[in-house]
Amino acid sequence: MTNSLVTVAYIAASALFILSLGGLSNQESARRGNLFGILGMVLALLATAFSTQVTGYTTLISMVVPGVIIGAIVAARVAMTSMPELVAILHSFVGLAAVLVGVANYLQPTTLVGAEETIHQLEIYIGVFIGAVTFTGSIVAFGKLRALISSKPLTLPGRHLLNLGMLAATVWFGISFMGVEAPAGLMPLLIMTAIASVLGIHLVAAIGGADMPVVISMLNSYSGWAAAAAGFMLSNDLLIITGALVGSSGAILSFIMCRAMNRSFISVILGGFGANSGGSAASSSDGVVGEATSITAEETVDLLETAKQVIIVPGYGMAVAQAQHSVARITEMLRDRGTAVRFGIHPVAGRLPGHMNVLLAEANVPYDIVLEMEEINDDFPETDVVLVIGANDTVNPSAIEDPNSPIAGMPVLEVWKAKHAIVMKRSLASGYAGVDNPLFYKENTQMLFGDARTNVDAILAKLVESTEPTKAEPALATAR
Ligand code: TAP
Repeated sequence: MTNSLVTVAYIAASALFILSLGGLSNQESARRGNLFGILGMVLALLATAFSTQVTGYTTLISMVVPGVIIGAIVAARVAMTSMPELVAILHSFVGLAAVLVGVANYLQPTTLVGAEETIHQLEIYIGVFIGAVTFTGSIVAFGKLRALISSKPLTLPGRHLLNLGMLAATVWFGISFMGVEAPAGLMPLLIMTAIASVLGIHLVAAIGGADMPVVISMLNSYSGWAAAAAGFMLSNDLLIITGALVGSSGAILSFIMCRAMNRSFISVILGGFGANSGGSAASSSDGVVGEATSITAEETVDLLETAKQVIIVPGYGMAVAQAQHSVARITEMLRDRGTAVRFGIHPVAGRLPGHMNVLLAEANVPYDIVLEMEEINDDFPETDVVLVIGANDTVNPSAIEDPNSPIAGMPVLEVWKAKHAIVMKRSLASGYAGVDNPLFYKENTQMLFGDARTNVDAILAKLVESTEPTKAEPALATAR
């Protein structure tokens, strides 16, 4: 393939990646966006493989084929709830690739001189630094999400000074690296790689469980910048463009998530949040006291049947219980009876951005009744019944009512303002952030204890029973 043809293919792939990102920003166009992304990647791979620079096809095929097979198997098997772990480990590969490309590039003889040589060395040094931080940081994030290591933040005394010290050492070794001819700078480069690896571990270890979503998207951003740096080292325009797209979109997503949790990006990066709450491992016994009132599935149906306005608030528990299909059928039946049913989605409900939207789309819930938090939060006072299905942190009133709560200031869905809030979960245990939830003890809250799928199915069965038989049969059959 001629160089100009490769350039044309790269421009087309870049355009497809941009269209892909645009498509993914909206549920209705998300599938199309995904398709654009796949097409762009296939085009990019083919153009690179058939470019004049590539000659070692045996090596290429022996790497790409197993990679494609392993990737396809892992992606097909991964549960939605484990997606953040997969994303984290994939980011670590990007980081490692940037380190290896950087070191290999440094050892390769070059004809560059003067300013060009300086720029090239700078690209290598920065690329390896970002790559090493991304590599080890992503591994720690993976370990935390998999519960292989504690999700509690590691708050070493003087940790900010430690980070600053490591940054200063990086600059120091950078000066020695830049000052000498290759390969004499290899030693400072490798020492800096070791320091950056420790920095990556320390940065992510200091971040608590509740901030993990931001860390994942931040590492996503880092992996993009690492790829862009690799693109500079290899003089590959497409890698630079793709890396910049991933880097900037990851940074924007981190910013949006921080805003959704009312946290400053800097405070998330510096870590330490949730030291008292400690993510999912924390106990739920401190602070909140009271008596929770329970309700049965039958009583829930009685309330639903008289309600005019219903809002369903799903959370991580709905994903675990895989209750979305039965929830969709309940929605359909209530809407058929003339009840206004809508969904309220918190930006960080579940375990990955858009988690709830994906599940509801999979169950064919119409997009127009699935609303974002800010679109629906003012409507709770006019709502008769709110069904909270496996959500906890995202509906915790202490974020608003208790300035000392670890999640104080985080915007939440104000479900307690509705006439009746029915919370479906198995116990009074805390959610991911490990913070007690006073919602369970409010006067207008009733707890429907048990597995969300079992309870949602029981509600559906009762609704079907009370509907005329002709309509009821197909509804139950589809839910199954
Ligand atoms: P959580 O606060 O995690 O609470 C989920 C609740 O579901 C748990 O309290 C659990 O209570 C219940 N549950 C679990 N399995 C269940 C089942 N089979 N049936 C019924 N209930 C079940 O959920 P949320 O409100 O969605 O909040 C998400 C949290 O995760 C936030 O703190 C967020 O910061 C964090 N997080 C979000 C992301 C992203 S990007 N979305 C990524 C990582 C972390 P029981 O044990 O009592 O049943």
